[in-house]
Amino acid sequence: MSALPAFSREWHLTARPHGWPTQEDFALREAPVSAPAEGRVLVRNLHFSVDPYMRGRMNDVKSYIPPFKLDHPMDGGAVGVIVASNAEGFAVGDHVLHGLGWREYADVPAQHATKVDPELAPLSAYLGVLGMTGLTAYAGLFETASFKEGDAVFVSGAAGAVGSQVGQMAKLRGASRVIGSAGSDEKVAYLVDELGFDAAFNYKNGPVRDQLRAAAPDGIDVYFDNVGGDHLEAAISSLNVHGRATICGMIAGYNDTEPTPGPRNMAMIIGKRLQLKGVLVGDHYGLQPQFVKEVGGWLRSGELKYRETFVEGIENGVDAFLGLLRGDNTGKMIVSATS
Ligand SMILES: NC(=O)c1ccc[n+]([C@@H]2O[C@H](COP(=O)([O-])OP(=O)(O)OC[C@H]3O[C@@H](n4cnc5c(N)ncnc54)[C@H](OP(=O)(O)O)[C@@H]3O)[C@@H](O)[C@H]2O)c1
Repeated sequence: MSALPAFSREWHLTARPHGWPTQEDFALREAPVSAPAEGRVLVRNLHFSVDPYMRGRMNDVKSYIPPFKLDHPMDGGAVGVIVASNAEGFAVGDHVLHGLGWREYADVPAQHATKVDPELAPLSAYLGVLGMTGLTAYAGLFETASFKEGDAVFVSGAAGAVGSQVGQMAKLRGASRVIGSAGSDEKVAYLVDELGFDAAFNYKNGPVRDQLRAAAPDGIDVYFDNVGGDHLEAAISSLNVHGRATICGMIAGYNDTEPTPGPRNMAMIIGKRLQLKGVLVGDHYGLQPQFVKEVGGWLRSGELKYRETFVEGIENGVDAFLGLLRGDNTGKMIVSATS
């Protein structure tokens, strides 16, 4: 076993952001590294995930996942290589997926580490297309929205990690039409030209309601909501009778300092007998084997595409997170170790 480093850098939340987070709310600090205790492994993180849900964890509010503690390392999905092991079945050199991101070295209980194979897919894919965001897309579309062949699907946040998979999965399972919205003309071109969406629009170019009507003149059967706000209101207007909406995220409101007003057209839910249902990926890990089999097949055949946006260096971790909230990413936003 090679010598362990004396210190590991890790990101701490040092103040609870009010509105948009700033660099001043975080600090990159050093923590001592020691050999793993019984039943644990020491992992050198190669990639860690920054995700929109982490913004909610920066607030001190009760939710489905506890808030980050001030002056403690933040956590989240990460993949890395074991550099020291004190756990049966885990060897130095094994690659694992685990939940202690935002740091260079992670001291992980072995039962919270899942071995992953870098020969089957690039390691970063286990954080995105083959990981949490891919499963969210799969479960939210096929289970929560009860997608069926012939449905017309609209997805917001369509060039992001979840949204880009939702649109393609819908096409692969026989959607009649797939429409996406995103925040730049480049992303719109990517959706149509590379991912095969039937139509897409830039929500910054005009009212969502008008642009969605134009893109889906016959209405939509499924709406996959990553954004909330005016997107949700527009989707309710465009949903056909017995339409279904998966409420996956509402990123447009994550930095709001006042409660976000709801859609003004909720009464349409009655006449159209709509179903709006929330999804939490954590409820759907039972789908994992089926998800990996089907999505793995689509990836191997080249039918399903994905992009990742890499930010190099742990010191740029907060920049990556802020960039994600601003829309700097296409596909999954990932922070990679440089050394
Ligand atoms: N329920 C669950 O279990 C679960 C699991 C994973 C993710 N989610 C949710 O799913 C959504 C997508 O997550 P992701 O990981 O795939 O992130 P992502 O879409 O890869 O990245 C976030 C994207 O949000 C867009 N955005 C930011 N502000 C916006 C605004 N005001 N209006 C419209 N779009 C805005 C940006 O793209 P543009 O350039 O297009 O603006 C940005 O790239 C998020 O709402 C997240 O919270 C939920």
